[in-house]
Amino acid sequence: MASQIARRLLRSNFLNSTSTVASAGGFNRSFASAAAAGPNSNLIRATLFPGDGIGPEIAESVKQIFRVADVPIEWEEHYVGTEIDPRTQSFLTWESLESVRRNKIGLKGPMATPIGKGHRSLNLTLRKELNLYANVRPCNSLPGYKTRYDDVNLITIRENTEGEYSGLEHQVVRGVVESLKIITRQASLRVAEYAFHYAKTNGRERVSAIHKANIMQKTDGLFLKCCREVAEKYPEIKYEEVVIDNCCLMLVKNPALFDVLVMPNLYGDIISDLCAGLIGGLGLTASCNIGEGGIALAEAVHGSAPDIAGKNMANPTALLLSSVAMLRHLELNDKADHIQDAILTTIADGKYRTADLGGHSSTTEFTNAICDHL
Ligand code: NAI
Repeated sequence: MASQIARRLLRSNFLNSTSTVASAGGFNRSFASAAAAGPNSNLIRATLFPGDGIGPEIAESVKQIFRVADVPIEWEEHYVGTEIDPRTQSFLTWESLESVRRNKIGLKGPMATPIGKGHRSLNLTLRKELNLYANVRPCNSLPGYKTRYDDVNLITIRENTEGEYSGLEHQVVRGVVESLKIITRQASLRVAEYAFHYAKTNGRERVSAIHKANIMQKTDGLFLKCCREVAEKYPEIKYEEVVIDNCCLMLVKNPALFDVLVMPNLYGDIISDLCAGLIGGLGLTASCNIGEGGIALAEAVHGSAPDIAGKNMANPTALLLSSVAMLRHLELNDKADHIQDAILTTIADGKYRTADLGGHSSTTEFTNAICDHL
């Protein structure tokens, strides 16, 4: 019974996000068919970035499962280039960005960013170039996979384009560097509006704005001011403000205290990984980036896992659940339900699990088990 409830909750998070996105200025199924149809007009064309490291292995799982489930998607695959494209100033090619702009829908595996090598992070480039302003991560306990908490059911919504990740860093003098945190009214209002709209259309009761405005009075102060402004338009949704350090304490003590959390970029990066830890780790956590004009780019939140790349050990669940979010965005809800049930049943059965979940199965064996459940 408990697992049935958990499954329903998990489903409702992804299910309703479709309507949220659509009404927040976005996608619509008939438009998708017309605009993104491939040579075979029954198929919806979607961009796929298999990514680096374990990316191609877990992307292969998605492709196999979509084939078995007969999902009407035609993938347009793009790989990270080997040379910097002057138009993007990164290893991401202009053609790959154009593909997402054209298709408006995509799925992304992890992309490795060498530290301190002087070029733009691939993920930052994607977010900036495609204006992917909100990162939405549902965080739900998975039925049958025991962690310290049984009832996690919250959503983190992270501002994705500015804050500490604006990419404005420089050396002032030798031994002194400076990094600029940018908060704008436009981006703060946009993500706050998305969070409240999400709460309203998904039957959620509360939005918590996470901040450090006691110290960063101007930047986080403006973020909060924008959240308050939007909150006034949604009197039916409870609104609260929680300081980031206290939020971490509350989350690990009792995640049920939270419902929808909205926050600036850096806090979102950290809190969303903390939340992934509450339900069993990065290998299980899905996410979707929402952009202007209805673009949605679903992505696994983990990195390229170079320690296990090429060893057929990776857990494809995060990318699979992200692909389920993508299907719901396309309003292919029957296919999404079908695939999601097969994933959850496979994990709950416990016979086939990858090493990160304490099992001994390879990526291929786990994927085949999901296909059997389809
Ligand atoms: P990571 O997420 O790649 O790995 C952390 C740990 O989790 C490793 O032990 C890894 O084996 C394990 N792990 C991650 N995903 C897994 C999966 N699906 N199945 C089983 N185990 C999994 O983080 P790390 O090592 O900090 O980053 C490696 C590279 O990935 C870096 O270049 C980083 O920039 C990039 N990265 C990319 C992200 C993205 O594209 N969204 C996000 C985070 C990191």
